[in-house]
Amino acid sequence: MQKNLTFLLHIHPKKVSKASIRYTYTYGLGGMTALLILLQFFTGILLKFVYIPLPSKAYDSILFLQHQVLFGQYVRNIHHLGGVMLIILAFLHLMRVFFTEAFHPPVRSGNWIIGLCMFLLLMFSNFTGYLMPWDQLSYWAVTVVTNMFSYIPLIGPHLTGFIRGGTDVTGATLMNFFNFHTAIIPLTLIILMTFHFWKVRKAGGVAPPRPRSEKEKRLVSSYPGLVVREAVVALTLLAFLFILAVFKDAPMHERANPAFSPNPVKAPWYFIGIQEMLMHFHPFVGAILIPVTILGFLFYLPWIHYPKNNAGIWFSSPLGRKVAGVSALIALGLTPLLIIADEYWIHFNLWFPSLPSIISEGLFPVVFYGILFYLYLLFLRKRYHPNTNEIVQAIFAFFLMTYTVLSLTGLFFRGPGMMLMWPWQIAP
Ligand code: HEM
Repeated sequence: MQKNLTFLLHIHPKKVSKASIRYTYTYGLGGMTALLILLQFFTGILLKFVYIPLPSKAYDSILFLQHQVLFGQYVRNIHHLGGVMLIILAFLHLMRVFFTEAFHPPVRSGNWIIGLCMFLLLMFSNFTGYLMPWDQLSYWAVTVVTNMFSYIPLIGPHLTGFIRGGTDVTGATLMNFFNFHTAIIPLTLIILMTFHFWKVRKAGGVAPPRPRSEKEKRLVSSYPGLVVREAVVALTLLAFLFILAVFKDAPMHERANPAFSPNPVKAPWYFIGIQEMLMHFHPFVGAILIPVTILGFLFYLPWIHYPKNNAGIWFSSPLGRKVAGVSALIALGLTPLLIIADEYWIHFNLWFPSLPSIISEGLFPVVFYGILFYLYLLFLRKRYHPNTNEIVQAIFAFFLMTYTVLSLTGLFFRGPGMMLMWPWQIAP
């Protein structure tokens, strides 16, 4: 038995700490992400046998797959749902790594950076796949999102042209996306994933948590301790996905019509928070400056000066857990208030009509929000006296909740003309 597991036993160290294989430490999220990536490759290859990446044929080839090919609809459902779950699981894995501080240099910082690159690649992979059905939903969502790139100063319009393969979303865009989706991204992912695993292995496994008992201080053999737990998580995930795919069909709307845009046009769910920010900030600020600043913060994270290396401890300390919770609650209350205030009462552009929009809709809202953010930090410092480890956890929790509320608003509370309304007032 042990012989057949040589491969798995090479991926893991021979012995791991008993505390680190507790289900509630990593939740097996990295492994689940890896498994889903492999499943996406497999189902993607099956789809390639039928799919034709031409505007005149793409839509019909998917209809053919769904109605004429044995299990065609089912394989498409698994690929679609797997793609959605992949982003969610990879993000949860990122959060696990973040909130257990498993990013400290020199051992884990490199893997944090590789992980971030993989996460961006996964989003890009999902986004390029989004266009494949060539229906109204995908065509216009891709038009909206690729348009966001044009707000990058100087290179923006060229970049949009490059991604689209011209000025509009056309057959050239479909071909570009197809090649990225089915060749360039999977290949890059495989390379990065191998490197990622190797670095976890080189670090001696995951950052060990503090043992809760004498028993947990022991080192145990990876097999069966870790491998069996991984098998349980993997089989549960597959069972869940395969059952869900029986009942939940991948979406397919009317054939793409470049002459008629639906109302509203929404970005894919993982970008919809950025689209919501465009409702409140100048496009350069909402689509570029804020996302790039947050990404910069994430990339720089391991090299901030921390008083302690608390790798392996959820939320860094009990106080870290508290300030992260308080921050999430503040963001949960504040963000909807600000969205409503901006929609109905705050109109910098009308109050200062002679100023350029980058000032009235860009600088002013940023300064306004910056002051509120500063007051929040001041409150945390005065009330809880957190150290840098805990403050970083708190800020991340704050922005995480803010982005979640923005995304939910965009998904469920924006109707025709992107007007703010109740979900039941919006036609399905
Ligand atoms: C996208 C595909 C990804 C795959 C397949 C993957 C896979 C894994 C696996 C299997 C582990 C070891 C077990 C575990 O922690 O669950 C791991 C650990 C790790 N991952 Fe990922 N990961 C991915 C993305 C990410 C992302 C987005 C980040 C963060 C930005 C990240 C950062 C790390 C770090 C720092 C470790 C070491 C954790 C520790 O030592 O405790 N990974 N990854």
